[in-house]
Amino acid sequence: MTMKDKIRNKFQELFHTEGALFASPGRVNLIGEHTDYNGGFVFPGAIDKGMIAEIKPNGTDKVRAFAVDLDDYAEFGLREEDAPQASWARYLFGVCREAIKRGGRVEGFDTVFAGDVPLGAGMSSSAALESVYAFALNELFQLGIDKFELARIGQATEHHYCGVNCGIMDQFASVFGKAGSLIRLDCRSLEYKYYPFNPVGYKLVLLDSVVKHELASSAYNERRRSCERVVEAIRRRHPEVEFLRDADRATLDEVKAEVSAEDFMRAEYVVEEIQRVLDVCEALEKGDYETVGQKMYETHAGMSRLYEVSCEELDFLNERARACGVAGSRVMGGGFGGCTINLVREELYDRFIAETSAAYEVRFGHRPKVYDVVIGDGARRLEA
Ligand code: GLA
Repeated sequence: MTMKDKIRNKFQELFHTEGALFASPGRVNLIGEHTDYNGGFVFPGAIDKGMIAEIKPNGTDKVRAFAVDLDDYAEFGLREEDAPQASWARYLFGVCREAIKRGGRVEGFDTVFAGDVPLGAGMSSSAALESVYAFALNELFQLGIDKFELARIGQATEHHYCGVNCGIMDQFASVFGKAGSLIRLDCRSLEYKYYPFNPVGYKLVLLDSVVKHELASSAYNERRRSCERVVEAIRRRHPEVEFLRDADRATLDEVKAEVSAEDFMRAEYVVEEIQRVLDVCEALEKGDYETVGQKMYETHAGMSRLYEVSCEELDFLNERARACGVAGSRVMGGGFGGCTINLVREELYDRFIAETSAAYEVRFGHRPKVYDVVIGDGARRLEA
């Protein structure tokens, strides 16, 4: 049975009617990690995997929701004090609340959802969930919210209802994704540009370590705080500086003695990474994928040694890619587990996957999961 059929059947069974179907994707990111909340650039794209939700207003002030993959049901009201317990339901609740805070007249609805984007693999399953509901509520209740604000609703949901002080990248990619294109996004101005991505002779593939680290969200928030502390130090001399985006190596060096060694390392990584995104854009425009790949390795090194968001399994996958002669490889997303993203010449692909999977199994007792990247569309209604 397809995911859509499962959802349709369950909806019928629970609510004895039919609603509208919406879909929203997860994302990959070619380069630009932990730069979004520093006002920098990112280079994500939506993927062909995500969340699908069926929804119908129910004329009450309650939401009745069923999560197919978790086989779990929740019911909640729409006032701040009605927050549900289940963490998956808090995403839905958060989206409703954030839409209401923006003046939207959200009313009760029935919904069933399911997804095929792996959870906790760094492909933004949570952004997919937020944006499918932000998009659907906007249509069904005619809220008149633009796409930028739909992305911000998802981000604010993470901040206020899920405890993650994330940037805007994941929700933006999930809402604005376009099949076949990556998006270069300036996270300060939200100016963006689609880059048709068709690296002739290469493939993009994700290797999922299948490792999830507890405390990933608190470690994520700590990274963000480090960056903010460095900005505070810089601002004492340069009050015009708003984000690490506005700093360069020289500005960082000025405050080296005033921040902790750890915070300094974090900031060093971010300043370098923001530049790498721009370098990658330039290389892409010339069709120079070997340089793109080289920058990916540099990102991995920075994320592993300076930002310290990699782990043994991801470092292993990265080293294997290098040993195999893969053009580029790095940990993708927030880190602390999840995937590496690899830019592989076609003739190397089979050997890379076979050898790396086997070596990984010997070392860690299980194989990584393999996902070929297909760049798909952003949030949408599936059928009228
Ligand atoms: C997570 C966050 C994003 C971004 C990445 C790291 O996916 O949700 O906002 O910070 O980590 O680039």
